[in-house]
Amino acid sequence: MIKHDILIVGGGLAGCRAALEIKVRYPNLDVGLIAKTHPIRSHSVSAQGGIAASLRNIDTDDSWESHAFDTVKGSDYLADQDAVEILTKEASDVIIELEHLGVLFSRLPDGRIAQRPFGGHSHSRACYAADKTGHAILHELVNNLRRYGVQIYDEWYVLKLILEDNEAKGLIALEISTSKLEAMTAKAVLFATGGYGRVYNTTSNDYASTGDGLAMAAAAGVPLEDMEFVQFHPTGLYPVGVLVSEAVRGEGAYLLNSEGSRFMSTYAPSRMELAPRDITSRAIGMEIRAGRGINLDGTAGGPFVHLDVRHLGEAAIKSRIPFAWEEAHRLLGVDAVYQPIPVRPTVHYCMGGIPVNVNSQVRRDSETLVERFFGAGECSCVSVHGANRLGANSLLECVVYGRRAGASIAEYVQDKDFPKTDYEYHLKQIRSTIDSLLGQKGTIRINALRQSIQDCMSEYCSVFRTETTLKEGLAKLHKFKKDYQQIYLDDKGDCWNTELIEALELQNILIVAEIILTSALMRQESRGSHAREDYPVRNDEGFLRHTLAYYTQEGTKIDHMPVVINRFTPLERKY
Ligand code: FUM
Repeated sequence: MIKHDILIVGGGLAGCRAALEIKVRYPNLDVGLIAKTHPIRSHSVSAQGGIAASLRNIDTDDSWESHAFDTVKGSDYLADQDAVEILTKEASDVIIELEHLGVLFSRLPDGRIAQRPFGGHSHSRACYAADKTGHAILHELVNNLRRYGVQIYDEWYVLKLILEDNEAKGLIALEISTSKLEAMTAKAVLFATGGYGRVYNTTSNDYASTGDGLAMAAAAGVPLEDMEFVQFHPTGLYPVGVLVSEAVRGEGAYLLNSEGSRFMSTYAPSRMELAPRDITSRAIGMEIRAGRGINLDGTAGGPFVHLDVRHLGEAAIKSRIPFAWEEAHRLLGVDAVYQPIPVRPTVHYCMGGIPVNVNSQVRRDSETLVERFFGAGECSCVSVHGANRLGANSLLECVVYGRRAGASIAEYVQDKDFPKTDYEYHLKQIRSTIDSLLGQKGTIRINALRQSIQDCMSEYCSVFRTETTLKEGLAKLHKFKKDYQQIYLDDKGDCWNTELIEALELQNILIVAEIILTSALMRQESRGSHAREDYPVRNDEGFLRHTLAYYTQEGTKIDHMPVVINRFTPLERKY
């Protein structure tokens, strides 16, 4: 059995930042970090536009309070304000720490860190490295993991969280290159497993974002919080769905409909293209519905709108948003210096997740914590984003709460011994799950089933939802669960059996999809990214509360938890 003082699942920004904090504070603690890709290939590497902090390098009247207010307003008042206070107060400090670690931020002429405007932020506070910010940060963090002696299990896939007697007791994981199964134990476990974009058919997320940590926690009996809030980033490159960074609008790009009009003047006149993402995505959806979308031949009535940067000029485009230019050119043959870029909303971020307190310890319900279990980053819900996250706040959350998670887990294990359980029993159980999957005699191909599930979620639980669409989505999902028993795997081998990994990921996709649909069905109001056409108004009296969704074999059960409101009174949200 593999044994470490602390096990971290996930090699992205939050997991790496936590590992670093543990080792800096307690060099003798033995930390194992398990990642299904090499950490450098974690989805954090593709974060583009920036990381927010009120450094005041551009806007001297910025402050953490202003950042906190923008974040809470952006969240449609569902964020927990104590958690937002920590996020925004610690922001400047974590940026300076990153700089000292060697992160190559873009600079102002006087050498200070450059900052740009971002959607929903009232000041220019997104620090950036051109439009490759996640790449710049992750590389330095991963280098430092090696320097501090964290043991990395890269290309290992975790199949099970062992949670008994309200304690996380370890994991069952598979080494992908050999299919060898191992039980792993630790005094405490941190999940930093990222999001679930691949539950949908069009996403900015990496192929690995299949909600594994969320599903494992849910299957172990932990609730998932606020899963109805799915962030659609307004500018996914059409038709592929990859991200065209908000930095492009931060640098001054226009959104144009088929009439060549900057339609955001109708939806958010004071913020225009820099309105928060929920509002901008709905605006694009409404333009397309009204027949003012664009077709590939340039005629009206099509499925996308234009993102136009031509007025910025070639020098600014190629120096400040080089990756956006490159993507449009490489994937579509569009030269953004001379042509507008076709875009439409794409699934980007999971506001909900495994509920945690501000010290990153996982909650069992509104009153109780789970022992030895911590969460950080996108898979967790602390909740700093509420019903809608502002751009550049997610990298920030990973670093602020990754650091906090590292500090609190390191303290937590000081007086802990290793947990005890029958690890052999859990290993056998997983072995038999895998054997029966490999032995299934059905005829359904994994790709086809995954595509049907993704299409179902994109059709029935998209930017706009109603009771009818959500119920239809759930009914289809129940059929897909049965279909799963009929999947057939060609590869029965144990060397790099990626088909087996895809089959296991598909189980997780099914669990997460059911929780999203059920949570969305139960929230009969519109708030942030959750736009119910049958309940178009925000209803604070009935629904200013967090959803807690418990996954069970009999279906997903819903409970609630209060929102922490200690500074900003909920107001109507206008931009
Ligand atoms: O558009 C972007 O660059 C994304 C940033 C974010 O999601 O924070």
